[in-house]
Amino acid sequence: MIVAIAGSGDMARYASEELTRDGHDVVILSRSNSSQKPHFNLPGIQQVKTDYTTPSLLQILNDTKARVLISFITDYTASFITVHENLIDACLCSVHCKRFIPSEYAGNIAEFPESPSFYYRTRQPIRQILRRQDQLEWTLVCCGWLMDYILPSKNRHLKDAGPGFPIDLANQNIIIPGTGDDVISFLAARDLARALSVLVSSPLAWGEYTYICGETGTFNELVEMVLPYYPHLQCDEITYKSVEELEMILQSSQHEEEKILAEYQLSNVGPSLLLPEEKVQADRRRYFGGVMFRGIAELLGQARDNPNVVV
Ligand SMILES: NC(=O)c1ccc[n+]([C@@H]2O[C@H](COP(=O)([O-])OP(=O)(O)OC[C@H]3O[C@@H](n4cnc5c(N)ncnc54)[C@H](OP(=O)(O)O)[C@@H]3O)[C@@H](O)[C@H]2O)c1
Repeated sequence: MIVAIAGSGDMARYASEELTRDGHDVVILSRSNSSQKPHFNLPGIQQVKTDYTTPSLLQILNDTKARVLISFITDYTASFITVHENLIDACLCSVHCKRFIPSEYAGNIAEFPESPSFYYRTRQPIRQILRRQDQLEWTLVCCGWLMDYILPSKNRHLKDAGPGFPIDLANQNIIIPGTGDDVISFLAARDLARALSVLVSSPLAWGEYTYICGETGTFNELVEMVLPYYPHLQCDEITYKSVEELEMILQSSQHEEEKILAEYQLSNVGPSLLLPEEKVQADRRRYFGGVMFRGIAELLGQARDNPNVVV
């Protein structure tokens, strides 16, 4: 099957590796020339430049005969909405492309659609457009936190998240929002890609939400598991940021980036990053029987044993 991917960033790398491993052909859409992303110069992967207007996208979908379009676009501005509207329009007008996965990959958005709020502002209009039509099959993929941020940079394609992820290896900081006792769903980025590769060719109808989780745990538990792998990180470097402190930043900060970080951090507090277990298990049975989802310890161990491999 030919699968188009919008965005040539980190998740696109995992997805193109896993899709081609499963025998799919991949078309990567990007605003830049293919020469800028030589790591995609691999058998089964084609890179195509687009300006993300509907005519440009439609031509690519029709020329390549892509049957599924997966978006991995990361943008927290209104341009995310325009680009996704155009992706949907192009699919609807295309001859073959009748399945679409928008760029979501967050927590339990069925029950907490507004978390995180900067996400909601750009994602909600796209969810609504998809719900109002019945020509294009689609699903909102929920995966909790991608846990690869606990790995050395050589073991992941994901770039450093900085303080956006509570365990910030690059800056050797651990800043836990809230108490650190909220239970969260974690998933390895490659396991998300493996699941998507299975999902795109599943003959079964897609649900409104697809739930994918490797393991659940709290940030306090995650820190305890991670610390032995990084002797230079000290327990006394762990700080907690209260909800009140974060809400104060949201209300009073003049800096958009600081506010987005506070929103990110707040989304770790409460139940919104925990996926409903019965739905995770139902989707495993329905689609992902053949996929091995790794837990936290397994991922850490694989990285330790393969220091130069993106696990
Ligand atoms: N749950 C989690 O823990 C977690 C972690 C990481 C990512 N994610 C989510 O996964 C998705 C993919 O993330 P990623 O890490 O692969 O992101 P990334 O590495 O930052 O790549 C995003 C891509 O988006 C494209 N892009 C950005 N702005 C655009 C615009 N205005 N128009 C068109 N294209 C634009 C860029 O592609 P080109 O430059 O090639 O055009 C870029 O390569 C996002 O939804 C992100 O929020 C979730």
